[in-house]
Amino acid sequence: MATVTLKNITKIYSNNTYAVKNVNLEVADKEFLVLVGPSGCGKSTTLRMVAGLEEITEGEISIDNQIVNDVPAKNRDIAMVFQNYALYPHMSIYENMAFGLKLRKYPAKEIERRVLDAAEILGLHKMLTRKPKELSGGERQRVALGRAIVRKPKVFLFDEPLSNLDAKLRVQMRMELQKLHNRLQCTMIYVTHDQVEALTLGDRIVVMEKAEIQQVSDPINLYENPRNMFVASFIGSPAMNLLKGVVTAENGDYYFQDRANKLRILPQHNAKIAKYKDKNVVFGIRPEDIYDKIFAQDARPEFTLTATVDVVEPMGAEIYLYLCSGSNSFVARVSNQDTAHINQDLQVVFDMSKAHFFDPETEEAIF
Ligand SMILES: Nc1ncnc2c1ncn2[C@@H]1O[C@H](COP(=O)(O)OP(=O)(O)OP(=O)(O)O)[C@@H](O)[C@H]1O
Ligand SMILES: [Mg+2]
Repeated sequence: MATVTLKNITKIYSNNTYAVKNVNLEVADKEFLVLVGPSGCGKSTTLRMVAGLEEITEGEISIDNQIVNDVPAKNRDIAMVFQNYALYPHMSIYENMAFGLKLRKYPAKEIERRVLDAAEILGLHKMLTRKPKELSGGERQRVALGRAIVRKPKVFLFDEPLSNLDAKLRVQMRMELQKLHNRLQCTMIYVTHDQVEALTLGDRIVVMEKAEIQQVSDPINLYENPRNMFVASFIGSPAMNLLKGVVTAENGDYYFQDRANKLRILPQHNAKIAKYKDKNVVFGIRPEDIYDKIFAQDARPEFTLTATVDVVEPMGAEIYLYLCSGSNSFVARVSNQDTAHINQDLQVVFDMSKAHFFDPETEEAIF
């Protein structure tokens, strides 16, 4: 059992700015929780406070319902893996993994058993006598993981552990980490600025920006129901399109209007959108929910507008079309069979069942 609870956690460094502001979070036993957000949003600071490497300005952190604010890092039963995994270059892989246990005066037999177990799990058993410089980046990262595993901690903390690896290795290590979590069945908190890594790894994801939590959710709900414009544009690639316009009403229907363009808002949203009549709104739509009319299933004129193709970006399985219409620019993610070309006027259809609307002042989702 290992739960981690953060209650009203705030961190102010000596420069008097909030690095972390009033964060509340409950990490369940055996959960894989990911903290994601842009550079400087407070992810590492949050993690380091859990580890005991950073003093807490305000609030309480508990591990297994025991407040640990005053418990030193070495007594928190936590193992942390960093981006720069800093192995000891003069020690073998075995010695690198055994080092922490030796310091803690574990019996030699126990150390050997744990190191061999971890090496087996991580596929390092044939390399134990090598030095770090004789390993690839991915293998070195696995040694760093091994060093954490042998400790059998209550909680694993990861701070961007894969960002030194090339793209292909990162994907591979992502799978390894998932398998590891499955096998070890322990609580993990993982920090990254990469939203793909967050979506693929997390049971739950915490999106942070400007020292505060923006949303906590499972990956699918986060993608489908972002709470505000920041989360909407941060999660997903290419990002959700955010179009500016006004809500108009006609014969009981509501429309999103941008100059001459009009798109009908589906009636199930009438109750929520009514109070924005004649007001500015931001219409959010993901690139995969905009279709070239030729390929659209439901090409009714009230969901269709004409856009000029600015750029065509073939991505292999699909094509990104950068489009411009009215006063808005947006991206559509279409099939690689699409033949649209630059400067063409293209009829594009919006799947309005996937529409999001935001209040431009609060930036909160209307629906
Ligand atoms: N030791 C420090 N002294 C003063 N300010 C700090 C210190 N460490 C971090 N900060 C500031 O606190 C804020 C949060 O930093 P933090 O390292 O937690 O961000 P992060 O989300 O991990 O970013 P990144 O993705 O770049 O690693 C930043 O504005 C940073 O400049
Ligand atoms: Mg960081």
